[in-house]
Amino acid sequence: MTSSAQNTLVLTRPDDWHLHVRDGAAMAAVVPATARQFARAIVMPNLRPPVMTAEQASGYRDRIRAVVPAGARFEPLMVLYLTDNTPADEVVRAKAMGAVAFKLYPAGATTNSDAGVTDLRKTYKALEAIQREGLVLCVHGEVTDGDVDVFDREKAFIDDKLIPLRRDFPELKIVFEHITTQEAAQYVNESDRFVGATITPQHLLYNRNAIFMGGVRPHYYCLPILKREVHRLALVQAAISGDAKFFLGTDSAPHASQLKENASGCAGCYTAPCAIELYAEAFEAAGALDKLEGFASFYGADFYGLPRNTDQITLVREDWTVPESLPFGEAEIKPLRGGEVLHWRLR
Ligand code: DOR
Ligand code: ZN
Repeated sequence: MTSSAQNTLVLTRPDDWHLHVRDGAAMAAVVPATARQFARAIVMPNLRPPVMTAEQASGYRDRIRAVVPAGARFEPLMVLYLTDNTPADEVVRAKAMGAVAFKLYPAGATTNSDAGVTDLRKTYKALEAIQREGLVLCVHGEVTDGDVDVFDREKAFIDDKLIPLRRDFPELKIVFEHITTQEAAQYVNESDRFVGATITPQHLLYNRNAIFMGGVRPHYYCLPILKREVHRLALVQAAISGDAKFFLGTDSAPHASQLKENASGCAGCYTAPCAIELYAEAFEAAGALDKLEGFASFYGADFYGLPRNTDQITLVREDWTVPESLPFGEAEIKPLRGGEVLHWRLR
């Protein structure tokens, strides 16, 4: 709902359907930023070591809950890390502890994915159980073959992995995470109700030029990497289409700034401190602020079969400067757009 002057934006409280919060002091530093805007978030399991069992997920959930600021009502939704060796029983235990999904990382695709899946066929017993139990499979959709150009890895994943997987498990609920290409948007659009997709703020706002503007800009480096403008435009169209298959997932992925400003910089954009504002900026630029609420607050909950939130947040049109740097345990972290002015602000 937008006021007539378009200076206030009241939304049903949104959820973040793809988030990294790490662990320990780093986790304590970033969870409050998410908890002030979002009611729930799907927490990614790529810790070191990964969250592979229901017991580990339960412990991790306790640690996250312990750092939610007093007064905030925020619920972490847990995801287990799928490996070549995940037993079907683990799926049953995961469901019993309230986990909502398993995450498929092709081995080596991204940060802490070494324990990921080397061959999808090795996971078929677990996938059968995930399908049967009605859990979701969250998918990092990139092939890992070093011969495939880094900008083509998502498209190759659709053709080589996702299409065969869906043929074998037609009723497995899949979220194609952080889609970055026209091909992925089209694939999801043409799929049935068992497939959804999340879209990050950075992929709605930037194309790959952002990584190289005036020099290498490591804070714009994430995986899947930003693509050409034609892809950004396709993602914006998908996000504002009102098609319930597309929903919000920030993929906010905090790394200490010295690990990003590095000869081998880590992948991930830290967007949690201004996530909903970044989405508002993207939707407004597309003339579609009225489509933000469905994308941010309804469709993800519907896909996961969870109730929609009933309370609200308010954004006001007000200039503010994103902090350039924030404490991050012993280190510091630089949010995306740090030091820059945003025009929407969460009240
Ligand atoms: O950019 C990314 N960062 N992509 C991922 O898939 C993982 C994430 C992280 O954990 O840092
Ligand atoms: Zn992620």
